[in-house]
Amino acid sequence: MSPISSSVALPARQSQTMLLTVSAALFALGTLFSQPAEADHVKGLSHTHLAKQMTVHKSPWCGCCTGWTKALEKSGYKMSVSHHDDLDPIKKQFGVPEAMAGCHTALWGDYVVEGHVPLEALAKLDKERPDIKGIAVPGMPSGSLGMGYDPKAQYTVYALPRDGGAPVPFYVAGQ
Ligand code: CU
Ligand code: CU
Repeated sequence: MSPISSSVALPARQSQTMLLTVSAALFALGTLFSQPAEADHVKGLSHTHLAKQMTVHKSPWCGCCTGWTKALEKSGYKMSVSHHDDLDPIKKQFGVPEAMAGCHTALWGDYVVEGHVPLEALAKLDKERPDIKGIAVPGMPSGSLGMGYDPKAQYTVYALPRDGGAPVPFYVAGQ
């Protein structure tokens, strides 16, 4: 053993203990935060809100997807962004019908959130927790969230049934 390594032996052991303490604390913290998310999946129990965090699949080149993502961040959502040059495989994977496609595809808990969905429709989804695949704003309506937001802009948010059946109106913006 070199003199150097023997002289650092004690501090190294100390820092190892500290590391263990820190990771134990992080583990405890992680357990704490994972509890509400797990409770979300237990239907029929007292209502818990979906955690305000989403994964959004978007094109790196599209400004309006970024606008929508930023708007959600501003209202308290933690957004994890995943960039793709081609989003078609993502929409296929999550079962978004072609006619319902918007520019970006987000995942919120078990729900798919497709396109420029407004905050009000997200709140309704969280409140009602319908047994559906998700909600979608097809195309890119001007005045929708991320598309030059105008609270008076009228467009429909559709519910996507789990069985792949015809989408039904879920929320109408601007009314
Ligand atoms: Cu867009
Ligand atoms: Cu976009």
